[in-house]
Amino acid sequence: MAADFVFQRCIHPKCGATASVDDTSFACPKCGGLFDAAYDWNKTPPPKALSFFEAKWSQRSNPLDFSGVWRFRELLPFAPPDKIMTIGEGQTILQRADAVAKYTGMNAGCLFLQYEGMNPSGSFKDNGMTAAFTHARMVGASRAACASTGNTSASLAVFCSATGLMRAIIFIGSGKISYGKLAQALDHGALTVQIAGDFDDAMQRVQQISKKLGIYLVNSVNPFRLEGQKTIMFRILEAMRWEVPDWIVVPGGNLGNVSSFGKAFIELVELGLIKRPPRLAVINAAGANTFYQLYERFGLRWNNGEPDKKIIDGYFQSLEMEKLRAATIASAIEINHPVNLHKALRALDRCGGAVREVSDQEILDAKAKVGAGGLGCEPASAASVAGARKLRKEGVIAPSDRVVCVLTGHQLKDPTATVAYHSADQKTFDEVLGHRGVRRAAFANRAVQVPNDLDEIIKAIEVYT
Ligand code: F0G
Repeated sequence: MAADFVFQRCIHPKCGATASVDDTSFACPKCGGLFDAAYDWNKTPPPKALSFFEAKWSQRSNPLDFSGVWRFRELLPFAPPDKIMTIGEGQTILQRADAVAKYTGMNAGCLFLQYEGMNPSGSFKDNGMTAAFTHARMVGASRAACASTGNTSASLAVFCSATGLMRAIIFIGSGKISYGKLAQALDHGALTVQIAGDFDDAMQRVQQISKKLGIYLVNSVNPFRLEGQKTIMFRILEAMRWEVPDWIVVPGGNLGNVSSFGKAFIELVELGLIKRPPRLAVINAAGANTFYQLYERFGLRWNNGEPDKKIIDGYFQSLEMEKLRAATIASAIEINHPVNLHKALRALDRCGGAVREVSDQEILDAKAKVGAGGLGCEPASAASVAGARKLRKEGVIAPSDRVVCVLTGHQLKDPTATVAYHSADQKTFDEVLGHRGVRRAAFANRAVQVPNDLDEIIKAIEVYT
């Protein structure tokens, strides 16, 4: 039996329809809007201060207190503890990154990287998947599905294989997924359906199919998934000794993360656990820049839950007419129809912030700088650093602001782009990156070719070190 203090609520205040916690349609029947997971906090009182969570560390032999998600369970109290499915997700670090700070034009000590590549499946998705998977278990699901650019599917495949509780069914666009991520889906035994189309097509199909066949949907339209992703922000606050940074910078694809981060901070303010939220910056790849276009160019705003439908419809019609498909080297965020658009608008409305686009060139240059600074991320993740650099150049971010860039996925998710960037071979560079408009590898660390000869090898080492 689910607790009586948890329910789902339409995000549009004028509608406000509710559904029970075990409803799995994940769409408001009245207005078609997105649902939030909602709580009656009077019946499930939150801790009085965030420092309450520090005690959890001494209890980490309990898997729920070890988990970087569930040790904050009082702030996402939708699941009875005996139903929680954890595989040790959320053991991540916040690293002060002075070399990257210098690259972005920030003062030393002011830029931090939240490294989500350390999760069991190598991306931030595990934070949300443990929550969605727990909810799926609460409602007795035996099959779970998602459309994915690769990380959601890897995460679902890992959770299904690690627990043996459900069968994973994943939809990917053909030729649109990096090998690292495809390898995970296959190795972990997911039914992998490669459809002739891109992520936006796959997303539409999985919604139709999961409804028709009664399969549990784990994409970020699922409000319980976003509950898990709130904890990325709780861990950042924890690492900053509960001080709120000035900016959180995050890559934007389906806009699940920014929506979830926004909800986390809105709730913390409402519960009196922090005084103010940080500002949120969402960074699109220029080849998949719907949110940037709508927010910055067309001025679309949350508008008390009634964003201007004419702007949205007009924009998507123009994409259709010009047959524009998303195209970027950052394949994880190659998305033109973000399903969480409305929630993302709400997050920016409540926290303040900005949306920017960065080119594939800027993304790969930033990625090389992140790598040289000691953390390995995939291209999409580096959009956050490229975006912070842009906002700093524009003067929107001050050099002394405290900025956290979220590195969403591990370097080894997509080695093709990395190797091509650092390649000594122009042909490889051109083949992989040229058609994306990447023209130079300013920070390339080229492999050195030497004959198999002792003297030559020693000479090369002396020359290059
Ligand atoms: N970074 C990485 C590494 C991702 O895999 C994704 C999304 C994002 C950023 C964007 O996050 O959608 O919350 O705005 N990947 C999804 C997937 C779409 O299918 O793996 P978002």
